[in-house]
Amino acid sequence: GTSLRALAEAKGIYFGTALTQGDLNNSALTAVAGSQFGVVTPGNEMKWDTVEAGQGSFNYGPGDRILAYGQANGMKVRGHTLVWHSQLPSWVSSLPTSQVQAAMRNHVTNEVTHYKGKLYAWDVVNEPFNEDGSYRTDAFYNAMGSGYVADALRTARAADPDVKLYLNDYNIEGQNAKSDAMYNLAKTLVSQGVPLDGIGFQAHFVLGQVPSTFKANLQRFAALGLDVAITELDDRIQLPATAANLTQQANDYVNVVNTCLAVSRCVGVTQWGVGDADSWIPGVFSGWGAATMYDNGYQPKPAYTASVNAL
Ligand code: XIL
Repeated sequence: GTSLRALAEAKGIYFGTALTQGDLNNSALTAVAGSQFGVVTPGNEMKWDTVEAGQGSFNYGPGDRILAYGQANGMKVRGHTLVWHSQLPSWVSSLPTSQVQAAMRNHVTNEVTHYKGKLYAWDVVNEPFNEDGSYRTDAFYNAMGSGYVADALRTARAADPDVKLYLNDYNIEGQNAKSDAMYNLAKTLVSQGVPLDGIGFQAHFVLGQVPSTFKANLQRFAALGLDVAITELDDRIQLPATAANLTQQANDYVNVVNTCLAVSRCVGVTQWGVGDADSWIPGVFSGWGAATMYDNGYQPKPAYTASVNAL
């Protein structure tokens, strides 16, 4: 039958999803994931707290299981994520600042080397900015200043010459103080010859609030010679969702698909999870949910049909 995956690929983009280890045991979920999506991102399994929970002690079992699922289904895999303030073990934030750079370089080198040649892309640095465009004062910034971003990118490139290297953040989809900060960083890195291939726009949207400047914003990053990708799409609804809400959600998804199709450097769209039952939204935004294209029973919602029709 029709698949998002085949239709997207025919248009030169991909449609991806995020999967966690637990998802691999859910046959209703994997039936949809394996047929409808061409790219997979591990939801948690390649993050620092899983991979290097204790300093110098690396665990690739969980990430390898997601990689194996992707490979078995002919999917590309996006690595997520190397350097991030969240899901960061406390030993990193407790280090003396003089030791953070070495710990960051060791983590990036070890993990990128482990997956060398096997991934399509890495989100090297995730969520570096506050909403006002200032840098988050996390362990990395406190130890190295803003130069940690270039340092992490160079370290990743040294370990894998071919994987696409990304910076990834949320609330940078429209033009605002935060996306201006990401734009200025990207422009500086490109002008300095720092290895950077793309910018990931998480796109955790609120129903009816896809920014009107979305396309223009992606285009300004593309004009720097960078790929752009929608990396964590969902569109949350205040529960219970009405039929009108689901129609609006379909419009929002079409807006995202059409925006990616309209920007030549937009490589694809990844939804964060397969269905509403797997989404992180209800657990983090109380009273909100129904944020994906599939309902709790993995039946396609209006957003799925509309996305298929837009492709
Ligand atoms: C989320 C996962 O989906 C959850 O399972 C986990 O508890 C918290 O992280 N931005 C990101 C993702 O870059 O890694 C986050 O994923 C969602 C927000």
